[in-house]
Amino acid sequence: MVFVPTRGDNTLRFGPDIPNTPFKPGVVPAAWYTDPERFDLERKYVLNPNWQIMFRSEQIPNTGDHYVWQGQGETVVFTRRKDGTVAGFHNICQHRGARIVRNAGCGARRFTCPFHDWVYDFDGNVIGVPDKEDFDQEKLEGLKSPTVEVDEWGGWVWAVLDGPGVAPPLLEWLGEDILTDLGAYQMENMYLKEVVTWDVDVNWKVIIDAFNEFYHAPALHHIPPQDVKDGREMRIFEFDHHAMMVVPLKGALPKLQENPDHQSVAICHYTIFPSSVFNNNPEHLQLFRPIPISHNKTRFETWELWYKSDDAAYLERTERHWEHLKIVVGEDVWTWSDIAETSRSMYYKENVYNDREGKIPFFHNQVNDLIVEGQKRDAAK
Ligand code: FES
Ligand SMILES: [Fe+2]
Repeated sequence: MVFVPTRGDNTLRFGPDIPNTPFKPGVVPAAWYTDPERFDLERKYVLNPNWQIMFRSEQIPNTGDHYVWQGQGETVVFTRRKDGTVAGFHNICQHRGARIVRNAGCGARRFTCPFHDWVYDFDGNVIGVPDKEDFDQEKLEGLKSPTVEVDEWGGWVWAVLDGPGVAPPLLEWLGEDILTDLGAYQMENMYLKEVVTWDVDVNWKVIIDAFNEFYHAPALHHIPPQDVKDGREMRIFEFDHHAMMVVPLKGALPKLQENPDHQSVAICHYTIFPSSVFNNNPEHLQLFRPIPISHNKTRFETWELWYKSDDAAYLERTERHWEHLKIVVGEDVWTWSDIAETSRSMYYKENVYNDREGKIPFFHNQVNDLIVEGQKRDAAK
């Protein structure tokens, strides 16, 4: 038996009384993608102080298993503690700044910096210093690498790089709509099938945009006219800072009209602010996740999750669909080389979006609001 996600008693997301989109047409200035100074503002006010997905819980199942995450100029070590929770600290040796841990691994008891053998516990506390007596003892007192706030939900490890007490608790941040709607897929019971990575020369938000609308599908992905028509029946929702899009599965619009169980009869996209987009098919799903490197360099990862099953038919059709999807995602990646070329032009001024692309300006305006609020807060200090 293969698990099939279902709406159950959750909110209705499809039907004649539900409008296509809550958004109006919008505009985003080109500089929001191309300005290197803006990227540093995004790191400070948007990415570092908010919850982001780091990796799968199943990648560190046992005590001492650890994962090194690198992105947006930061490097962080996550380790499974003895009590089953996950610890996280910035991977910066407090002696002279070397990376303490270079690779993921299993069963560590402590971490030793390769430069001069300083020793750290799972929480980043300095617990060993060779020739300790030669140092200013006051400097060593309570020394630790900064803590990262960590939690787990949906089988994913999430983190706030700025540390504890900066963002609301994870479940509060995700909110009831995401917890119930995305939660219906029971991602904690899925497993990681594959991660596909592309290094691309565009801003990280170009990738968020690419998976936030269906408007490009007819031209770029050459979908047939009936699917284009059915695609216009999509529904879009905004949940505070996150958003969602329901697109009928190929050929399944009549079924969806009859039984509006969006989880089992549609593709559901969930944009989890600020840096994750889920593309949920009923039988398997993808996380599209840009990891910003600089203002115009991004590591783009697609994480593929499957349900646990030994049903040969499920495995065969899911494999076939996933292989097809990798080609489709490759088409999206291909368009970014054009955006990389034009992003330096002095004549590239702004993007304009229709109402069905409304999730995009909605997303960018939230990024902008956080920057403006953060700058105001800092100026008032
Ligand atoms: S830089 Fe890590 S021990 Fe010296
Ligand atoms: Fe696409």
